[in-house]
Amino acid sequence: MLAVTDLRKHFFPGTPNERIALDGIGFDLAKGAFCVVIGSNGAGKSTLLNAIAGKFPLDGGSIAIDGEDVTREPAWKRARLVARVFQDPMIGTAAGMTVEENLLLAELRSEPHRLRWGLTAERRARYRTELSLLGLGLENRLGDNIDALSGGQRQAVSLIMAVLGEPKLLLLDEHTAALDPVTAERVLAATMRVVQERKLTTLMVTHNMQHAIDCGDTLLMLDAGRVLLLAKGEEKAGLGINDLIARFRHKEDRILLAG
Ligand SMILES: Nc1ncnc2c1ncn2[C@@H]1O[C@H](COP(=O)(O)OP(=O)(O)O)[C@@H](O)[C@H]1O
Ligand SMILES: [Mg+2]
Repeated sequence: MLAVTDLRKHFFPGTPNERIALDGIGFDLAKGAFCVVIGSNGAGKSTLLNAIAGKFPLDGGSIAIDGEDVTREPAWKRARLVARVFQDPMIGTAAGMTVEENLLLAELRSEPHRLRWGLTAERRARYRTELSLLGLGLENRLGDNIDALSGGQRQAVSLIMAVLGEPKLLLLDEHTAALDPVTAERVLAATMRVVQERKLTTLMVTHNMQHAIDCGDTLLMLDAGRVLLLAKGEEKAGLGINDLIARFRHKEDRILLAG
């Protein structure tokens, strides 16, 4: 479903501020794979997701989604294949609009050729079903202003907005990191339900080592723009938190993560 080959990205090349963000990253994911992405700050995790979403031109390498080479496709064209949820709950949703208006917006964005039918009873029923799957009581809040929702609820709505367009690939960049621990667990559980229900191929960046162990069938660990570890299936299942922590290069990271 996703084939990434020798990705390279430098920021500010040839200047004293040069940063090698991606230094030859390659891996592939089968359809329906759930890949957890970990690594120290600055390891290149967000840059990798940005590269897959087409946010900037690459310096080298190629990206294929569902057999389609998208390397030179701009982000707006790739949006039909790739959906994202970011860390900040304010980014994914449109302020000043209701929950159902946000969902409609997301749905129409992915079907630009369709007429705007508006919020039909059929759509409302479908949105209610989608939201109920989250298990957060959001199915009763379709008409509420999105600003009245908590950060966790907004992230959950962002998640449904992301999957409404039936993307081939879902990218989650620390989407629970800005939430309090209890809410983070709830949103993560909701995420796992939505992803399993839709059999979505997913990349999820996390700083939470327990989540990295508990979630997914594939683990990708980055360090300085390179793949430090790619574990799939049984190899991934056999990993413990200590195995992950031991691989972090910087002592500060190990102390932080162990805590
Ligand atoms: N837009 C950008 N401009 C300049 N440097 C960037 C940009 N995005 C990322 N970087 C640099 O690329 C490296 C990887 O960053 P990032 O992918 O955000 O790391 P992570 O998400 O793993 O913490 C860092 O050195 C960072 O400073
Ligand atoms: Mg990041």
